[in-house]
Amino acid sequence: MAFREYKIGCIMFGIALSTSMFVTIFLPGLDISRIGSTEEALKKQLTYGWESAFNYYDPFLLGKDKPIKVVLTKDPETGKPIDKTEAYVFTAGTHFPDGLTHDNIMGTKQLALSKSKGLLAQATEKRGGVFLVDVDVTTGVPYVEFATATKGWQVAATLKAADVRIHAGSGKTMFIREGCWWCHTLLPEETQDWQSFGRPPVTGDFNGESPTSFGSDRKGPDLLHVGSRNSSREWMTMHFFNPRLVQPHSIMPRFNYLWGKADINGKVIDRQKWDRDFMAYARGDTPYPPAVPIPARNSEARYIIDFVLNLK
Ligand code: HEC
Repeated sequence: MAFREYKIGCIMFGIALSTSMFVTIFLPGLDISRIGSTEEALKKQLTYGWESAFNYYDPFLLGKDKPIKVVLTKDPETGKPIDKTEAYVFTAGTHFPDGLTHDNIMGTKQLALSKSKGLLAQATEKRGGVFLVDVDVTTGVPYVEFATATKGWQVAATLKAADVRIHAGSGKTMFIREGCWWCHTLLPEETQDWQSFGRPPVTGDFNGESPTSFGSDRKGPDLLHVGSRNSSREWMTMHFFNPRLVQPHSIMPRFNYLWGKADINGKVIDRQKWDRDFMAYARGDTPYPPAVPIPARNSEARYIIDFVLNLK
């Protein structure tokens, strides 16, 4: 008898699993190919790269295998001044987001333009390269330009010419790993939310982004446009090191361990001493709080700060 129940159980489990697979994998695919990417979706994909959660290439969620967003004011090849341009640098071997590698994610018009004007077909993960997001002036359709083919922008030269490097792709991995989504959403709703947190996303904003990390519920503010209302790197740095420095009653945890061992100048960070000094300040024994170390260039703190400041 017991074996019969076991068999029924297995069948029920099989049906449940295949239905949920069908719903989660196949159905969204239908919508996505019909709707087509917005400019926002193309930018997000090129900022975050492929799969920001647990995956084969970054099993410990260290922020590996991610593109670097850069801001350029001069042409990396010729050195001539250009209008401020955001570019997305994929070093050789960095995996491309799904929208660039699967034909039915980006949208028909977007893909056609990316291939004809953007020379996207020439891009390979093995060699990497530099990408831009453009909008076609006559049709208003956004598309991806493979600047390594169209303008000859190489990875090394572009990184060298960059005024700013933004590690928002690795930062998104931190956002997921650290569970920021337990307290923060990335989804303003179509309600009064709009007034405080900004424009709610539209359907085409999510093509090819994985995972979308909408968040579950809110104990803190929505962060989808946080970089537009607070663009201060200094404030963010203090707030992540210890939120109580800038918001005395904040319930947000400290993320000072993301700084790693040493600051940007290689000076070892003594967290215990910092906490003692901070408590002395909180009691009123000292007039100023201790200074917050500036995170090292490739530290996880730098990644998460780049991520939030890039949420415009
Ligand atoms: C326990 C809940 C909790 C967690 C976990 C949490 N936060 Fe917060 N966060 C808050 C609360 C509450 C506030 C509002 C008070 C404040 O500013 O500290 C806030 C504020 C913020 C702000 C400023 C928002 C604004 O509108 O100016 C940012 C940015 C932020 N959090 C980012 C993060 C990131 C990134 C993580 C993950 C590394 C994270 N938080 C984890 C609760 C949380």
